[in-house]
Amino acid sequence: MAQDTDVLLNEKRIFNPDEQVIKRANVDKWESELNKGKDLEKYWANKAEQFEWFQKWDKVLDDSNKPFYKWFVNGKINLAYNAVDRWIKTPKRNQVAILYANERGDERKITYYELYREVNKFANGLINLGVKKGDRVSMYLPMCPELLVSMLACTKIGAIHNVVYSGLSVGPFVERMNELKAKILITADGTYRRGKIIDLKKIADEGLLQSHTVETVIVVNHTGNSIESSDLSGREISYDRLIEGESDEFKAELMDAEDPLFILHTSGSTGKPKGILHTTAGYMVGVATTLRDIFDIHDDDLWWCTGDIGWITGHSYVIYAPLLLGTTTLVYEGAPDYPDPGIWWRMVERYGVTKFYTAPTAIRHLMRFGNRYPKIYNTSSLKILGTVGEPINPEAWMWFYKNIGKEKIPIMDTWWQTETGMHLISPLPTTPLKPGSATKPVPGVEADVVDGKGNPVPLGKGGFLIIKTPWPAMFRNLYHDEERFINSYWKDYPGYYNAGDIARKDEDGYFWIQGRSDDVLKIAGHRIGTSEVESAFVSHPAVAEAAVIGKSDPVKGQVVKAFLVLREGYQLKTKLIEDLKLHVRYELGPVAVLGELDQVKSLPKTRSGKIMRRILRAREEGEDLGDTSTLEE
Ligand code: WT7
Repeated sequence: MAQDTDVLLNEKRIFNPDEQVIKRANVDKWESELNKGKDLEKYWANKAEQFEWFQKWDKVLDDSNKPFYKWFVNGKINLAYNAVDRWIKTPKRNQVAILYANERGDERKITYYELYREVNKFANGLINLGVKKGDRVSMYLPMCPELLVSMLACTKIGAIHNVVYSGLSVGPFVERMNELKAKILITADGTYRRGKIIDLKKIADEGLLQSHTVETVIVVNHTGNSIESSDLSGREISYDRLIEGESDEFKAELMDAEDPLFILHTSGSTGKPKGILHTTAGYMVGVATTLRDIFDIHDDDLWWCTGDIGWITGHSYVIYAPLLLGTTTLVYEGAPDYPDPGIWWRMVERYGVTKFYTAPTAIRHLMRFGNRYPKIYNTSSLKILGTVGEPINPEAWMWFYKNIGKEKIPIMDTWWQTETGMHLISPLPTTPLKPGSATKPVPGVEADVVDGKGNPVPLGKGGFLIIKTPWPAMFRNLYHDEERFINSYWKDYPGYYNAGDIARKDEDGYFWIQGRSDDVLKIAGHRIGTSEVESAFVSHPAVAEAAVIGKSDPVKGQVVKAFLVLREGYQLKTKLIEDLKLHVRYELGPVAVLGELDQVKSLPKTRSGKIMRRILRAREEGEDLGDTSTLEE
């Protein structure tokens, strides 16, 4: 089997970090040298020291039973205590912890002290309902402060939360509740979406009819939508009623470092969503460290991650990491283009956001409107930008860099997964950047690109991305599916983590992620990642978004079939088709043999914004679409 991906996007631009950025950076020399083989356990122990432990660990890493790694063995700690209570004793007590805003212009500011009291009251309320350490609590909530309070309260009790993204429909929501035998469901009367209120409670009621385990439903009055009690009303209680009169003190549960923290399902871009299990201490140390070092968090920062809390990006970097660092996290409920595509930059201006973290899909979308909107607002408070979720097409990177970063602010292209819990491959603020590359593994992590047998491939060639070192925020299992855990991630390259992505490393050791290995194209014996072909299309001025799949061809095995969303004013006529083919061939060389090009209005995506190529493939081959529970409408 040929592993080489001879298709090379001709991307040679390099952007060196600004002096100011380097001067400020948290990252010290020791950290940047760690990848050259310094003491891994000492490195993470040093990071873990910064937290308050009830009892210190005996051993940083126990790898005696791979792949069941254990971190901070016998350490006792509580993550919520470290994210909230710890700050009450410091000058941060009255600093804003959560800055909530929404598309209607409402805002709420919650200080660390207020958050502390609210979490304690809610934890007491949950205890009164019989919630104990180890119980599973489902949440079907919008981006609202009560979601953060609920998660932190569970964490303080030691209950395991399972957040279901509020954009998912009844089916996947019921499936998750039943799979986990959830005891409690927390939901809301509604969520704001593009000027409308979506009635979440109605969906929750429908779901509850099919749940056999939920004993109590807690309803947050978020939008003021009138709440209709259902047949299940005997089980219902409002959030306000639950905390009314509760004590604002609550003693955090003593958690073992390896006690489960949460279960979260993957976005299902290439198959049925998996229930990923994360545990306490390693996750805590991993997410806080990466946010601090990669986004260079200081006391004067205002952090904004636009990801939804219903996905890992939100778990790790909207709630846990920023609070663990004692920073202010902006929680925004609304779309990137409502009421207009300037809303995000307006928010940056209004609040003075300093660090801004978003997804390539959003950038590609906003890019279609050119620089019309960014020009209106003063975004000079920004110091670092970031992206996550998919490979970022170099053209989208350049747009972001020029129009939002004003060619001064670095972009942290962070590669990671629900499974990894934290960033694993990403620039630091001091790293020279190449548009479209996530650059190198973060300190303490080693990665490589290998062939099917696990041998490293030569530089420039494509292969499978593996992670060679254990890292603290690694997932510990798939919920009740150990077999799939081993088979999907650990079997192919014993001792190493198989990320399921394909990538190549360039002559500087920079990683270029080329997409999921399940999406790979096989043309005349060459394995070709989807991302470089798509980026070549997107670098043409007529194309806004592209998805490519391999279509069976009697001669080549497969040829590229492309689905294109064009920019305003373009039509896919013969002349443009010829032009696009020439352009892509010029960018990539002859290996990417192009077949049909189709113009489409939009691409099938997961609710988290990832292109679902398997849907396009199935449709093209006339096959069953498979699991579509996370497909956007
Ligand atoms: C998959 C994981 C991690 C939070 C959101 C997604 C792709 C993610 C990048 C990046 C290229 C990326 C990978 C990965 N991915 N970040 N910076 N460059 N690809 O989490 O839903 O678990 O998806 O997203 O293919 O395997 P997820």
